[in-house]
Amino acid sequence: MARQFFVGGNFKMSVFYPSTLEKGQNGTVQSIKEIIENLNNAKIDENVEVVISPPTIYLLLTREHLRSGLEVAAQNVFNKPNGAFTGEISVSQLKDSGITWALLGHSERRTILSESDDFVASKTKAALDGGLGVILCCGESLEQREAEKTIEVVTSQLKAVADAVGKDWSKIVIAYEPIWAIGTGKVASTEQAQEVHKAIREWLKKEVSDEAAEKTRIIYGGSVNEKNCGELAKQEDIDGFLVGGASLKPAFVDIINAKS
Ligand code: G3H
Repeated sequence: MARQFFVGGNFKMSVFYPSTLEKGQNGTVQSIKEIIENLNNAKIDENVEVVISPPTIYLLLTREHLRSGLEVAAQNVFNKPNGAFTGEISVSQLKDSGITWALLGHSERRTILSESDDFVASKTKAALDGGLGVILCCGESLEQREAEKTIEVVTSQLKAVADAVGKDWSKIVIAYEPIWAIGTGKVASTEQAQEVHKAIREWLKKEVSDEAAEKTRIIYGGSVNEKNCGELAKQEDIDGFLVGGASLKPAFVDIINAKS
């Protein structure tokens, strides 16, 4: 069964579209509108699932202006349904705002904000229980890769999620993002990426189910751009991309259409 190609755009805390890029600004309502306008007017392969993830403050604006058929993800969500949790946002608040996905477990949150595997897993469970899709990130540091611990690290991050959510992975997209390739311009080779994606699929088969192994999209993130996406997209176990910096540029459309 063919898995639908999936491309996510993670804007992180930056939004540098032409208007802001030239001025060296950090991100504005105007630049978000430019990104959306570009996507709305683009010829996008209709077989590709596209989800963009702007900074929280722009989620509603994005949902309001983005054409239907393209979805929006929050870059985080909390694991409690409501209450006194200053600065956090709940799953139901996202749903109420038309936001259908959450991006969880990104290495920047794991490392800079000290999010543990268990915390990521509990947020994943809350998101799934509330009906959101989850782009679940995993990946190793350069040190871990050099110590040949890549598969061990990635599968232990995924195991924490399996322990929390069980066998239903139908609303999870796994994003393999080697930390050493994020924002560095140093993309994993097609062989390196395919090798880890294949290992993740084998892990899903062994630890979750045949169905999860067959159907779960495993996407690659880490310095993907319009030039390297074509070769990566040809790999058997690469079902799409999670794009950071290049999702803020018009060429994001070329990455979305990498299989066309
Ligand atoms: O979530 C996206 C990844 O961190 C990749 O970022 O494409 O800027 O390397 P990048």
